[in-house]
Amino acid sequence: MKKTLLYVGMLCGLAACTNRPSQEAEMDKFVSRLINQMTLEEKIGQLNLPTVGFDVTGPRMSEAVEQKIKDGLVGGVFNTYTPDAVRKLQEMAVTQTRLHIPLLMGYDVIHGHRTIYPIPLGLAATWDTALIRRIAVAVADEASADGLHWTFSPMVDIARDPRWGRVSEGAGEDPYVGAEIAKAMVRGYEQGDLRKQNTLLSCIKHFALYGAAEAGRDYNTTDMSRLRMYNEYLPPYKAAVEAGASSVMTSFNEIDGVPATGNRWLLTDLLRRQWGFDGLVVTDYTAIAEMENHGVGNKAQVTELAINAGVDMDMVSEYFIDELPALVKAGRVKEAVIDAACRRILEAKYKLGLFDDPYRGVSKERAAAQIMNAEKLALSKEAAVKSIVLLKNDRHTLPLDASKKIAFIGPLVKDQRNLIGNWSAAGDWRQAVSLWSALENKFAGHTFLYAKGCNLIDDAALRDKLNPHGGEIVPDSRSPQQLLAEAVQTARRADVVVAVLGEPFGMSGEAASRTNLDLPATQQALLKALKETGKPVALVLMNGRPLTLQWEHDHLDAILETWYAGTRAGDAITDVLFGDANPSGKITMTYPLNVGQIPIYYNHKHTGRPFNDKEKYTSKYLDAGNEPLYPFGHGLSYTQFTYSAVQLSDTTLTAGGHITASVTLTNSGSRAGEEVVQLYICDRVGSITRPVKELKGFQKVALQPGESRQVDFALTPDLLKFYNADLQWTTEPGDFWVFIGGSSVTANKAVVLLQ
Ligand code: NOJ
Repeated sequence: MKKTLLYVGMLCGLAACTNRPSQEAEMDKFVSRLINQMTLEEKIGQLNLPTVGFDVTGPRMSEAVEQKIKDGLVGGVFNTYTPDAVRKLQEMAVTQTRLHIPLLMGYDVIHGHRTIYPIPLGLAATWDTALIRRIAVAVADEASADGLHWTFSPMVDIARDPRWGRVSEGAGEDPYVGAEIAKAMVRGYEQGDLRKQNTLLSCIKHFALYGAAEAGRDYNTTDMSRLRMYNEYLPPYKAAVEAGASSVMTSFNEIDGVPATGNRWLLTDLLRRQWGFDGLVVTDYTAIAEMENHGVGNKAQVTELAINAGVDMDMVSEYFIDELPALVKAGRVKEAVIDAACRRILEAKYKLGLFDDPYRGVSKERAAAQIMNAEKLALSKEAAVKSIVLLKNDRHTLPLDASKKIAFIGPLVKDQRNLIGNWSAAGDWRQAVSLWSALENKFAGHTFLYAKGCNLIDDAALRDKLNPHGGEIVPDSRSPQQLLAEAVQTARRADVVVAVLGEPFGMSGEAASRTNLDLPATQQALLKALKETGKPVALVLMNGRPLTLQWEHDHLDAILETWYAGTRAGDAITDVLFGDANPSGKITMTYPLNVGQIPIYYNHKHTGRPFNDKEKYTSKYLDAGNEPLYPFGHGLSYTQFTYSAVQLSDTTLTAGGHITASVTLTNSGSRAGEEVVQLYICDRVGSITRPVKELKGFQKVALQPGESRQVDFALTPDLLKFYNADLQWTTEPGDFWVFIGGSSVTANKAVVLLQ
């Protein structure tokens, strides 16, 4: 131990620094000296990232990790946390290896570590990037106190296919929203200075295009034009790189026929050369090994592909430690390439300050003070409230009047298990506040009616698929008929019914693709029976993706989308249901009418034969309309907002200039509320076809009843740029429509000429 401290201390002398350029120079010197002392095997060992602990998110588990750490064959581990567990492994690395190099400790801290916030798709629905950044700061604080250095977040994959279960993990379908949220999260996690003990290394994933898996089936092929890639799918990754993200994770899919993990164009030409990324690239779980399944080579060949493409760290495959020594000896891989990869990993450790203090930020005292403290629990509730989207509300069904007799019906009314959703890291669902306990807490002494109504799912085969991964779906001892009968009787005694339904959490997330996006059949049957009682029915949804809700929309009085809202879900939903909070969320993914419309997204291209119901040969379906059920940007409030016409400070925009587009927003209802004001453009004529609308700005505005405010957006030529057919980032003169409104279907527009 003494020897270690001496060694680390000696190196830290070099690490002492005062400003950024000299900090970089010091880091270079430090890392170069270290690399010079390393054997080839030790360098390759740094490139190995096995999993330890209990969370298996792939087809295989790492073995004998502790021995490998002692043998200098591990650069970092993931899936373990707590001060004790982390200290134990870190001590092994810094006392029992020849060079005492500390480990990087990673984990999927996706929407909270122990305090859980709404799932990312719910957070995106807040359109509140300042809030999202505050959450990332709080998450980093908590996770770093629990021994972690590195989160595999944010996931910034554009997702336009709700069959893909992982839409729950990202910000939805839009490149602009995606980029804004990506930046907020990276800045929140890293705070521009990883030496602060309460920060985490962020990891942009999954690079790239993972959200475009064909047919929404996880791990499936992607194929798209470079134009679509550059204009629609790459912006959030690029924005996150520009915001300073320190690591990038490769995706499972192929791009132009080459798996991302072995794609040199992607990882080196685009990411490093064009975008200037200088952080570390890690693979996804066993992604190197999976290249054998993709059919691009045997074990040695895919290893060679990955390292030469630009991968630095191998998550779980262990192909690097198995194959790289021989590949270097055979001259297939240059030692300089290994050095560069090793350097990036050591630099990450250096930036985190691990050479100064391998136990950075970890102490039981700090953990006790930071984990689930009052501030974080309050933030979790604030986020949950702001993430909730009122999809429909007829005849003021919501907010509820507590003096009425209200029946809460559904398997999620008293549920805690599902509230924290998938990828809830170290979150403990037992600490989540159920809707029922929040009601009891808020209205002590008040009687609400309750019936379970149905099981979450009655499909035994599906239950058997979900349960092995923690689904914990246990059918009620009563028959579905008994549950239903009790629910109907309960509803008949009430003035208003609140049905609390959705997807069990395992039905969204990784490896949770669906071909049918309806509520499970047993829940639909319950809703139909409740509707038949003639009572007003409000549906509270808990789910991880846009569902197909046409029947629900046509027959129910109100629909409230609450996602999996996290630790304080019940409190937040209660506040919204009873009007103590006014819903202000707006969806960032289109809700289709049915799965046949998928992929459906607001920023699509024009067709040469636009929809015309009276003309046969136009772009449409025989059995459904083209419009979705709920468009991107949609979300209601308990108050009403009215928009003035769009005003322009000038109708002509010149190079280097800017003009202002404004609306006056009025709260014309009777409650205070917040509105997400959205700016869209449409480039009327281009050298390539342009989308019908593209989001280019948004502001969240709080107004008292009767209050008006002018909302301004600066329009610059930069805002109108796009990648042309030669992939040049450019503007083209001509007319643009500028829309400002409350959702992507707004028709409130003015015309701007770009000279
Ligand atoms: C696989 C997932 O695709 C990725 O998002 C995650 O970070 C890794 N497993 C590690 O758990």
